Amino acid sequence: MKVLVIGSGGREHAIAYALHKSPKVSELHAIPGNPGVAQIGTCHPGSVEDLESILKFVEDNKIDFTVVGPEVPLCMGLSDLLEAHGHTVFGPTKEAATLEGSKAFSKDFMIRHGIPTAKYVEVHQYDEAVNALDGFDYPVVIKASGLAAGKGVVICEDKSTAVETLKEMMLEGSLGDAGNVIVLEEFLTGFECSLLCFVDGDTIVPMVSAKDHKQIYDGNKGPNTGGMGTVSPNPFLPQMDEIIKKDILDPFMAGLKKDNMDYRGVVFIGLMIENMQAKVLEFNVRFGDPETQSILLRLESDLFEIMKAVSEKKLHTVDVKWKQEHAACLVLASNGYPGSYEKGKVISGLNDAEDVIIFHAGTKEVNGNIVTNGGRVLNICALGADLEETRAKVYRAAEKIDFEGKVYRTDIGLM
Ligand code: AMP
Ligand code: GLY
Repeated sequence: MKVLVIGSGGREHAIAYALHKSPKVSELHAIPGNPGVAQIGTCHPGSVEDLESILKFVEDNKIDFTVVGPEVPLCMGLSDLLEAHGHTVFGPTKEAATLEGSKAFSKDFMIRHGIPTAKYVEVHQYDEAVNALDGFDYPVVIKASGLAAGKGVVICEDKSTAVETLKEMMLEGSLGDAGNVIVLEEFLTGFECSLLCFVDGDTIVPMVSAKDHKQIYDGNKGPNTGGMGTVSPNPFLPQMDEIIKKDILDPFMAGLKKDNMDYRGVVFIGLMIENMQAKVLEFNVRFGDPETQSILLRLESDLFEIMKAVSEKKLHTVDVKWKQEHAACLVLASNGYPGSYEKGKVISGLNDAEDVIIFHAGTKEVNGNIVTNGGRVLNICALGADLEETRAKVYRAAEKIDFEGKVYRTDIGLM
């Protein structure tokens, strides 16, 4: 089978790595991929948002199966376009992807189908938003409804910060059209858990749990990032599979059916858990980054077989098996991220790291050197018998790899 992966980050490298191991995958391609993916497949330049060019590539190269990594092409309708032309694809339709593309739509879906979530109101005008603040305690959570690349959620400690945030998003357009509609939300306490599931519309199969570390600094300090590291399993999650199934997964699946939504791909459910109760913070319609890097290392089964079964609505026929080992993923980032940072710093030591798998997230090859090309640069990942051993492996490797401005958290998996 000729398989195409869409995307360029660490998540896509991890997906490509798992697909590459499948005996069924004879050729692996990526648009645009990255220097890490290029070690196991062929990368082709192009934009993940240029749907027509992707379709042309699939047709010209007789691609059998396309896996869409990021949310933007899914929300633009890449799966619909490829399927309309008779191609097989892993990733939900444009309508289903609205569960991530519009937080207002997603909250409405949760409420209508009885999925526990924070209380909220949806607002369209600045004055209306300021008035609606009176219905909330502080801190209050302000969310741009549209896609905002991880920058759309602000937790405001007091009214003046909330008003200022609303002004920036709604009047000054700090997030462009993403901030035209706003969701104001009750602040939830507890701990977070990333739950990724394979779903084909009839069957949902949860993957092993993971813990993401969103803030840039140790001790969960500083601004939110796309994620600075993950461990799997989530060491804080108690045994509550049955509760999550009954309270979250069952009503989610019933909701898809009632709304006649064609959902075939991965759903990433961001959960807040307190006192053995789970509430949904958000739905994402794709694998998480950097959750995927830890989770897929633990996958025992053939990822290609699972994905193919999902796209054919036959997920119930495959046995999704996991390794008992623990996994960790440590992000090496560029100094300044999630704000502005410099690029083009030469990376050394990539071949000196032992006992780890390194996924490329923001790198580029220039004159035979691998250089930094993004905020999140590399993902150092490992499997180990327990959390301690796994952490030791990734942190030992993190010291061997170097580039100017290298930053990373030292407490992945500890909090
Ligand atoms: P989201 O994109 O909706 O997952 O929000 C990004 C992050 O903001 C989450 O991972 C949480 O850390 C935080 N967050 C979002 N909504 C809430 C909430 N209602 N209460 C507390 N924290 C929240
Ligand atoms: N790590 C969070 C996300 O992928 O959205």
